[in-house]
Amino acid sequence: MANLLDFSLADFFYNDNPDVLSPPEDFEAWITEPRVQSSFRFFEQQFLSAPTTSSEVFSGVDGERRKVINLTSYNYLGLSTHPEVIRAAKEALDVYGMSASGAPLLSGTFDLHVEFTRRLAEFKQQEDCLLYSSGLGGNIGAMQGILRKGDYLILDEKSHKSLVDGGTLSGAKMLFFDHNDLDSLEMMLEKSKGKRALVAVEGVYSMDGDLVKLPGVVELCEHYKAGIYIDEAHSTLIFGEHGRGVGEHFGLEAKIGVSFGTLSKAFGGVGGFICSNARIIRYLKGYSSPWNFSCAPSPPIIGGLMKALDVATRDSSLRDKLWENVRYLTDALRGMGLNLGQTESQVIPIIIGSSGDLLIRLAAEIQRRGLFLQPVDFPAVPAHSRRFRISASSQLTREQMDRALTIIEDVIVPALRSEGTLSR
Ligand SMILES: Cc1ncc(COP(=O)(O)O)c(C=O)c1O
Repeated sequence: MANLLDFSLADFFYNDNPDVLSPPEDFEAWITEPRVQSSFRFFEQQFLSAPTTSSEVFSGVDGERRKVINLTSYNYLGLSTHPEVIRAAKEALDVYGMSASGAPLLSGTFDLHVEFTRRLAEFKQQEDCLLYSSGLGGNIGAMQGILRKGDYLILDEKSHKSLVDGGTLSGAKMLFFDHNDLDSLEMMLEKSKGKRALVAVEGVYSMDGDLVKLPGVVELCEHYKAGIYIDEAHSTLIFGEHGRGVGEHFGLEAKIGVSFGTLSKAFGGVGGFICSNARIIRYLKGYSSPWNFSCAPSPPIIGGLMKALDVATRDSSLRDKLWENVRYLTDALRGMGLNLGQTESQVIPIIIGSSGDLLIRLAAEIQRRGLFLQPVDFPAVPAHSRRFRISASSQLTREQMDRALTIIEDVIVPALRSEGTLSR
């Protein structure tokens, strides 16, 4: 290998090692290289407390135990530690124990699951709902259950891996359109003309924080008679007057065929769900393996999630607070001249550029200063737009945001200014 640092995880997918239980030979040399290792130190760092905006971590970067302002967890509404949610989860734990101890079809369906799916379907204004033990499993299971060989799955190029993996498993032909580009989507719809086609989009794109251009997508899908699948992982409980997501935000819920949500982000738990018409949900129960061949979600988690849904929807206070914080952070960061891409949400990228070394250096320094803001490197994002990605939370206090902003201003801004990549 010429220069190990020119490589990334994107280069080691194919493996020609004759021993099937060994990685590619070059992989070992690459991953043990000290500078490569220095970027892997950011992975799997240990949290020593709840994933709130003020957490304690055991730093993989310098081995210190440290209190940090946490801008990386997806606990957008602080529900994972909400006292009512914790009480409800504990009550369910006392009654049902830790595990559902079975797949939903046989022995894993509890009254809690039935009640929660009913409430999720009602919330999303769809007829029925399927619950999964993970969000990733939900997307995989939905694609695998809905699509067949000969069908078309048309995806935004920035789609989450779970949608792509589900498409692969389904055997459908997958076509990717340029991110949020309606002309490109139309070209793909033309190619799928005459076939069963499903268009999958995300409410909020997870690496950029921008919204799907749903009105244009709906118009095209109606014209070409394609179904619409929307992944509202980062938008459920956050967008729309009642928190139902980007579908509600655009007033287009009635046009959505399948609405996916995860329970691990704003909900503060774990799991996933899809809401759709009752006929397809009943059909999927026979063909969606992560549902019918996997243990049902843990009862205490469902107990907590049911309360989380109540708390998040009984009024708009958590959402309002989140939006107030998003405005405060984005105004301040833009004021520093930082490039936040096209964000319109609580997912706020700070785009650093093409230098992986710089990203890692800055990440280490901000963590040393007490800010937990994880770097997002290639291949998770394009090599020219490596970044930090803030997950804002309603829990952030003004004082925490000011401290975080000061660290960003002291560490990131001067580095980008000296690189000449700051907009002012
Ligand atoms: C857009 C999107 N869909 C699906 C998922 C999977 O959800 P989970 O992490 O709950 O499995 C994620 C997770 O990051 C996501 O960002």
